[in-house]
Amino acid sequence: MQPGNHAEAPAQAPTASYRDSGTVEAWNERYATRGMVWGTDPNRFLADYATGLTPRRVLDLGCGQGRNAVWLATQGHRVTGIDLSPVAIEQARRLAVDHAVEVLFEVANVVEEWMPPPGAFDLVVLSYLQLAPHDRRVAHAKAAESVAPGGTVWLIAHHSDNITDGFAGPQYPEVLFDEKALAADFGELELLRNEKVFRDVEGEDGVVRVAHDILLVATKPAVPDG
Ligand SMILES: C[S@@+](CC[C@H](N)C(=O)[O-])C[C@H]1O[C@@H](n2cnc3c(N)ncnc32)[C@H](O)[C@@H]1O
Repeated sequence: MQPGNHAEAPAQAPTASYRDSGTVEAWNERYATRGMVWGTDPNRFLADYATGLTPRRVLDLGCGQGRNAVWLATQGHRVTGIDLSPVAIEQARRLAVDHAVEVLFEVANVVEEWMPPPGAFDLVVLSYLQLAPHDRRVAHAKAAESVAPGGTVWLIAHHSDNITDGFAGPQYPEVLFDEKALAADFGELELLRNEKVFRDVEGEDGVVRVAHDILLVATKPAVPDG
């Protein structure tokens, strides 16, 4: 099985709205009751991208239980992970201990509280940080601000058409996005990839179905010498 090939994004139980599903309480409850929700292996697209990458300063925004942050640390990167769920951050810290790596994990709401240190990271990772449009734009602007000149924003998310054409993931259109939204959010970066990618997901019934994701790789122009 490939990294993250299992139920990476199980369909969320119906709640009154996407707002209810995105609170600290809802995330804490999900993490406290469902074990390692997305497993302990890194997202497969991130593993493809980052295997063999020169060690860098990496930021993982919405790091959850730390599968990507910890894997990146095992690859030699200096990693900071931020998530609004204290339960997830505690689990992420334990995962780092299990893998004998150090990761700086911090509890913070990326939209409301966290202030991006400008240009402090060579690579900023966002993995399924599904936010409604206003919050998404704020988080993506902060991601772009925190990446250094010459650095990269790498993002994977559930695509807008996953509800109609794909499998699992959030069932609220408000928190899904597409190529157009990302082109606008990261318009000041050079977009190397901004496209739909497909992922096999094994459901609880054992049947493998295809999820539709969106993958972005964007670099910030380097500051010219002199
Ligand atoms: C679908 S999970 C993905 C977790 C992780 N990136 C991964 O791929 O395994 C989304 C994560 O974003 C976090 N999150 C949602 N809104 C956030 C916000 N405003 N600030 C920080 N974290 C947030 C949630 O707590 C959750 O852990």
